[in-house]
Amino acid sequence: MKRKTFYKKNLLISSLLFFSVTIYAQQKINADSIRNKMHWFADAKLGIFIHWGIYAVKGIDESWSFYNKKISYAGYIEQLKGFTASKYNPQAWAALIKETGARYAVITTKHHDGVALWPTKQNHFNVKDNTPAKRDVLQPFYDALNKQGIKRGAYFSLIDWSYTDYPGFIKDSTRYKIADEPERWKHFQHFLQAQIDEINIAYKPDLWWFDGDWEHTPVEWEAEKLRLQILSKNPAAIINGRLQGYGDYETPEQNFPVSRPKFNWWELCMTTNNNWGYHPDDTAYKTPFEVITIFVDAVSNGGNLLLDIGPKEDGTIPAKQVNVLKELGKWNKKNGEAIFGTIPGLPQGHFYGPTTLSKDSTTLYLFLPAQTAGNIMLKGLVNEIKDIVVVGTAQHLRPKVVGKISWSPVPGLVFINVPEKIRDKYMTVLKLTLNGAVKLYRGQGGLN
Ligand code: GLC
Repeated sequence: MKRKTFYKKNLLISSLLFFSVTIYAQQKINADSIRNKMHWFADAKLGIFIHWGIYAVKGIDESWSFYNKKISYAGYIEQLKGFTASKYNPQAWAALIKETGARYAVITTKHHDGVALWPTKQNHFNVKDNTPAKRDVLQPFYDALNKQGIKRGAYFSLIDWSYTDYPGFIKDSTRYKIADEPERWKHFQHFLQAQIDEINIAYKPDLWWFDGDWEHTPVEWEAEKLRLQILSKNPAAIINGRLQGYGDYETPEQNFPVSRPKFNWWELCMTTNNNWGYHPDDTAYKTPFEVITIFVDAVSNGGNLLLDIGPKEDGTIPAKQVNVLKELGKWNKKNGEAIFGTIPGLPQGHFYGPTTLSKDSTTLYLFLPAQTAGNIMLKGLVNEIKDIVVVGTAQHLRPKVVGKISWSPVPGLVFINVPEKIRDKYMTVLKLTLNGAVKLYRGQGGLN
């Protein structure tokens, strides 16, 4: 090889190397800074979602009711006149959220109907200028959350079906196509970015919960720009995954994962009945037992639960929802050590129920499903169990190990007899102190 070519080739290789090292370093910084800011979220486990808006006046589907033509747009938007917030007590909301054990709350700053809960400076609907509430309802809630040490989340709909420069409107009619009127879309983008800036600067949410990204591509939304716009002013903000690939965590909605999701962080958002907003006709409430079961299952699989409530237009929270929240809170008060600050539990197959582990994995929590008592079984635990306590009580239990063959590496089966009388009203939790970090046998009993 000629010297010159050799030199050129070397230069090429070293600059390629330099660039890939730089890119790798940048990616690592990004990954590290995401990991750092996600700590509180990973430990939080429970959040409360609040869908509050003018749809509570008639008690109909949030935004979707006019989109799906269940009601005319005029009939929908006249609800502005009925949104009073007359009994709104943000301190009581925050205290109730605190009582559940939740570590964060996410409120609809603006749903797809475009009505802002804060006094937007853009020329568009908001509860201060267009409803009898006549005030910013967001600020006092965020202040109250702050006082309780609860992180503040902002649900924000990218879609705005009321804004005249937004293409989408009602399911079978759109205002225009972006390709035909790019300037009009630009105008909408400016408006959207200005509203996001207003919230980001005035309220500095700890978490942004976008919604509605399905109507446009990441390029159309300028999703990357939105992310940078938020992070440049509020670098620790967490952004949910509904920003077409530019979020920090995944948000399965209503549908429960069966196998453990592979995402680093995920959050199941779920209604207490079948609706997000206040719906007096919907009486299909989940019981506290069901909510606790779902919550524990999400946590044992590395997720959070974002449990929704839909206050009435006057700001009162329906009694059934208050009841679910309070029962969940009582259970968390007794059993919270098995939930908050833990990591996902054993893989499926070891125990017929959810499990979690302490961060150092020397403590294993077993959640007894279906209000079980009696003899429960644990498979494939290599560790010795030092102690078993029924969480929230002073009751100790003893394990019985059966079937341990002296010459075999396969651990015996652990049976624990749980007396009926110590059973929790909803879900009993056992705390197993192990002789070290958890060690599992995952084989097929000597067949492999
Ligand atoms: C859906 C719906 C919306 C609701 C949201 C909550 O995306 O469009 O009405 O607010 O889910 O996750």
